[in-house]
Amino acid sequence: MNRKCTLLFAVLVSAFAAGASAAEGGDAQAGQAKASMCQGCHGIDGYRMAFPEVYRVPRLGGQHPAYIVKALEAYKSGNRSNETMRAIASRLSAKDMADLAAYYGSATTVTAGSK
Ligand code: HEC
Repeated sequence: MNRKCTLLFAVLVSAFAAGASAAEGGDAQAGQAKASMCQGCHGIDGYRMAFPEVYRVPRLGGQHPAYIVKALEAYKSGNRSNETMRAIASRLSAKDMADLAAYYGSATTVTAGSK
């Protein structure tokens, strides 16, 4: 684990400890910290999941923030069915979603290990 990862992890832990104290609206910096739990799947170019069938993991960087929030809400509510994303989205608050959307929406390319 490099220095940047360690730092991100520390920020992530404190971001969740701080809970809902943050301001309304998407905060890209907070989103970047939270995104460390998404990068394992979404940060890998051309990554494919092998279960329950082989399918691609969509790239999030550069997608419209409103689309990202809608997609996460749909997974959480069950309107969009994907076991993996449902499990993840169900643990996200509206604030988490807004932050993540702000982060991914502002990043044109988000790949694992890039700076
Ligand atoms: C274990 C792997 C994994 C992790 C971790 C993961 N995702 Fe996903 N994500 C997927 C897969 C696979 C899909 C495609 C599901 C589908 O076909 O609906 C997806 C789809 C999405 C979509 C819809 C994209 C689109 O183009 O429609 C969004 C938004 C998303 N994920 C956000 C996130 C966020 C934010 C996190 C972190 C909080 C995260 N994901 C963590 C595997 C993952």
